[in-house]
Amino acid sequence: MKVDVPAIGRPRFAALPPLSLYVHIPWCVRKCPYCDFNSHEARGDPPEDAYVDALLADLEFALPAIWGRKVATVFIGGGTPSLFSAAAIDRLLAGIRARVPLSPDAEITLEANPGTFERDRFAGFKAAGVNRLSLGIQSFDDAHLAALGRIHDVREARAAAEAALAIFGNVNFDLMYALPEQTVGQARADVAAALAFGPPHLSFYHLTLEPNTLFHRYPPPLPDDDAAADIEDAVHAALADAGYRQYETSAFARAGHACRHNLNYWQFGDYLGIGAGAHSKLSLPDRVFRQVRWKQPKQYLDQVGRGLPLQEETTVTRDDIGFEFMLNALRLTDGVTAASFAQRTGYPLAIVERELDVAVRRGLVDAHPATIRPTALGRRFLNDLQALFLRDGARDAVAVPMVRREPAQPAGHGG
Ligand SMILES: C[S@@+](CC[C@H](N)C(=O)[O-])C[C@H]1O[C@@H](n2cnc3c(N)ncnc32)[C@H](O)[C@@H]1O
Ligand code: SF4
Repeated sequence: MKVDVPAIGRPRFAALPPLSLYVHIPWCVRKCPYCDFNSHEARGDPPEDAYVDALLADLEFALPAIWGRKVATVFIGGGTPSLFSAAAIDRLLAGIRARVPLSPDAEITLEANPGTFERDRFAGFKAAGVNRLSLGIQSFDDAHLAALGRIHDVREARAAAEAALAIFGNVNFDLMYALPEQTVGQARADVAAALAFGPPHLSFYHLTLEPNTLFHRYPPPLPDDDAAADIEDAVHAALADAGYRQYETSAFARAGHACRHNLNYWQFGDYLGIGAGAHSKLSLPDRVFRQVRWKQPKQYLDQVGRGLPLQEETTVTRDDIGFEFMLNALRLTDGVTAASFAQRTGYPLAIVERELDVAVRRGLVDAHPATIRPTALGRRFLNDLQALFLRDGARDAVAVPMVRREPAQPAGHGG
């Protein structure tokens, strides 16, 4: 009798996951001392024409990997995409539309720094098709903005916030807490100032000292762990009181305004990332793979010119995929359906059953069989919970990747 031997080493997809497009713009006016994103001081005008040409060429090289698939969301992140002119963003979005089928209701987000704000430029982004603006405000306190090395003050932040809400409506503010010498009262004042604008979405990030930043080398006087926990509790309580639901570790939204692009990362959807240093996670019927593009802007431009935008491409193995799925899914307050594990990884849930049992027994994940949802304890000790899913071999070798403060580069972007 002939027995079918399952190809257990390979994933099998009945249907491929939803697909998002991330576009990285790697320049800023000045590098902030806390920032580890792939962002570079522009020193004059960035070469926007050459860069848009390169992005569109990069997208064309990538087409075979996403052939025929609809793109549900686009996120233009950085760096500071608002440094680019509206004409450049218009050419970029027109070029994307001409090359991939964009859903008619696609969410199209652009990140903006209030220090680059001009009303006409915001209106131009909207006319180009951007329908969601993510504004890097960070704080409504001039002393903290100065301590963070920001290029704008509170007055400019307020002007940008007002214009963003008037022009786009669908707006996110990025704010950080546990700032140098910040008190609970000051953090509460920051939240109150943000809430006074009533944006549909707020991202609140705990300021962290990232390797290879100026703050890591010369640490500022940050609140200690207890003080930072008090600030976090106060910030979260104020947001909940105002009707914002924390749907992810750092993301808060009024009903119906969760960021669809970032949700796709956390639900382990597919994403193609184009631009300097951008990351991709893509699925084929029997393979899941990651790509990284050349990181330095000049190197990226040169390599795209040679038809070689990729610095690295790796297959995600059966041993790693359970951890990668959980790293994202467990950030979500509601978690994900148990069925989505097989739909998004191509493997049965059985490959992580042992680890899930341990997580449930330790009270870190709900026992409900139809969902995979972190408990309040699991959310509080998220790193420990995620680490349960690391396979023994990888446990020592893999530093837990930072899920980007909003997976700009998943792991991680702004909201
Ligand atoms: C690419 S930036 C957003 C757009 C623009 N570059 C800006 O800063 O205005 C993404 C967000 O990540 C957050 N971020 C960056 N570095 C961080 C750090 N070390 N700790 C916590 N949040 C950080 C900031 O809130 C920032 O707005
Ligand atoms: S926080 Fe934003 S503006 Fe500052 S260096 Fe990073 S990407 Fe650029």
